[in-house]
Amino acid sequence: MSASEIKTVAVLGAGTMGNGIAHVFARSGYRVILRDIEQPFLDRAMETIKGNLDREVKKAKITEADKTAALGRINPQTAISSLAEADFAVEAVPENLDLKVRVLKEADAALRPGVPLASNTSSISITSLAAQTSRPEHFIGMHFMNPVPVMQLVEVIRAIQTSDDTFALTMALCEKLGKKPVAVNDAPGFVSNRVLMPLINEAAFCVMEGVATPESVDAVMKMGMNHPMGPLELADFIGLDVCVDILEVLYKGFGDPKYRACPLLRKYVAAGWLGRKSGRGFYKYP
Ligand SMILES: NC(=O)c1ccc[n+]([C@@H]2O[C@H](COP(=O)([O-])OP(=O)(O)OC[C@H]3O[C@@H](n4cnc5c(N)ncnc54)[C@H](O)[C@@H]3O)[C@@H](O)[C@H]2O)c1
Repeated sequence: MSASEIKTVAVLGAGTMGNGIAHVFARSGYRVILRDIEQPFLDRAMETIKGNLDREVKKAKITEADKTAALGRINPQTAISSLAEADFAVEAVPENLDLKVRVLKEADAALRPGVPLASNTSSISITSLAAQTSRPEHFIGMHFMNPVPVMQLVEVIRAIQTSDDTFALTMALCEKLGKKPVAVNDAPGFVSNRVLMPLINEAAFCVMEGVATPESVDAVMKMGMNHPMGPLELADFIGLDVCVDILEVLYKGFGDPKYRACPLLRKYVAAGWLGRKSGRGFYKYP
């Protein structure tokens, strides 16, 4: 199969990432089957997509007609059988190994043979997920960045089993979405989180040890290193619980103490200070 033969894409999970992935596929002319477990999750996702497309109309990136057409191409579904129509599938359910395996097995059974299946996991081994399906050679990592409609990068992760065809097709598909795919091999944290999470962790250690305030740490990185966001602002945006979970994956995956999560991060998570989503992290969000 080549990228030009793909007309219909299934997206599993209509949360933060799933609705963004559905948005970019629909905006690029693909029919999208957006699957979640309950109708209210799908309704909320469609509202979010509509709001985000409205913003693109206001910024004159697309026309009102483009918006209406894109929304019309998304077919929200709770039935797993709807996946039979898909030519490509992307999984974006929560980052929990047992859940991912269950959803991927279900999708594997519902998709036609030979249809590529991608996971948007941030940290779970693509090689081990591929092995759970009957189509390991058609399995790949497609790590979109949040917010999906805005961020250019897709980290495309080859499992040891991924075929050259699946890899080439996925890279071409990213280009068709107007994204910049970057190819990496499967390893804990891939490249994005393996490099980012130790930076966030060190920034947290600087605060814990009284080296500097969060504002000062972020100011150094923004003004000195030209980062658009400081590492602690970014950690609050990602979610401190998510950061700790990914550090845990790196720590276990490499068996190297340099990846141990900073105790201050753990303390904040224990307090329910998860960042933006809970109203407080390194900063307060009233
Ligand atoms: N949020 C981020 O910044 C970010 C960035 C990159 C990658 N990721 C990865 O993307 C994935 C999804 O993250 P998210 O932040 O969108 O999560 P989320 O919790 O916002 O959304 C997950 C959605 O999956 C749905 N779901 C649960 N079980 C399902 C099932 N059996 N079938 C279909 N849908 C099901 C949930 O109802 C929910 O709507 C995770 O693997 C995460 O690591 C997240």
